[in-house]
Amino acid sequence: MSRRRQIYEGKAKVLFEGPEPGTLVQYFKDDATAFNNQKKGTITGKGVLNNRISEFIMLRLAEIGIPTHFVRRLNMREQLIREVEIVPVEVIIRNISAGSLAKRLGIAEGTPLPRSIVEYCYKNDELGDPLIAEEHVTAFGWATPPELDEIMSMSLRINDFLMGLFLGIGIKLVDFKLEFGRLYDDQDQVRIVLADEISPDNCRLWDVQTNEKMDKDRFRRDLGGEAEAYQEVARRLGILPESGPHDMKGPEVMQ
Ligand code: TMP
Repeated sequence: MSRRRQIYEGKAKVLFEGPEPGTLVQYFKDDATAFNNQKKGTITGKGVLNNRISEFIMLRLAEIGIPTHFVRRLNMREQLIREVEIVPVEVIIRNISAGSLAKRLGIAEGTPLPRSIVEYCYKNDELGDPLIAEEHVTAFGWATPPELDEIMSMSLRINDFLMGLFLGIGIKLVDFKLEFGRLYDDQDQVRIVLADEISPDNCRLWDVQTNEKMDKDRFRRDLGGEAEAYQEVARRLGILPESGPHDMKGPEVMQ
């Protein structure tokens, strides 16, 4: 692990001071938690895979004009990111009923939703990240109305793009969670950028043919085979780190 000064330790990642001001090093652990830290375990190799998967997705999103905190991958478990002020709101985008939505509204898991639905949760571990309304976000000043508009439109664009990307490799993007941050430039101008990570830890990914789960639900629900599932996502994206860091194929198109 990096010998830099540690800034913050989360459940799946550690943030260290970066090499230049305004940068951080994001280290991906193999630790897995669920149900707000009540269930703990490790998924061997998860950190390496999530570092790769998140790098790949952040780069593809940057190519379509989504600003992100990602700068570059440094090694197997670390990436250089821009330091941002995290907006304390988790954005969940859903395409198919699953998880807490299925439970809360009694809509059977696997039911396609009439349209993509965006939900917000207050990012607060002590409270268990409760579901909130847009009104809470702006009333409590967690984000301004223009910031929230930006977050909503970026989230829907990311969803459209990622649904297509995953469908191309035989995977349904059921739902996922995003986090955003404020990036301050030299003139103290603020910009909202995509932060955190996008990986099977914070997405639900189902195989198109079999509906097999290829994400952290394997751990949450004690299904087993979590490392293999994460590897299969990386393999289909063409980024399984088997022949070294310079061997990066593109995604494998499914018929
Ligand atoms: P949920 O159905 O449990 O609300 O989860 C919706 C999506 O958000 C799912 O893809 C998993 C992801 N998620 C996180 O990334 N972190 C969390 O703490 C929770 C509860 C869900």
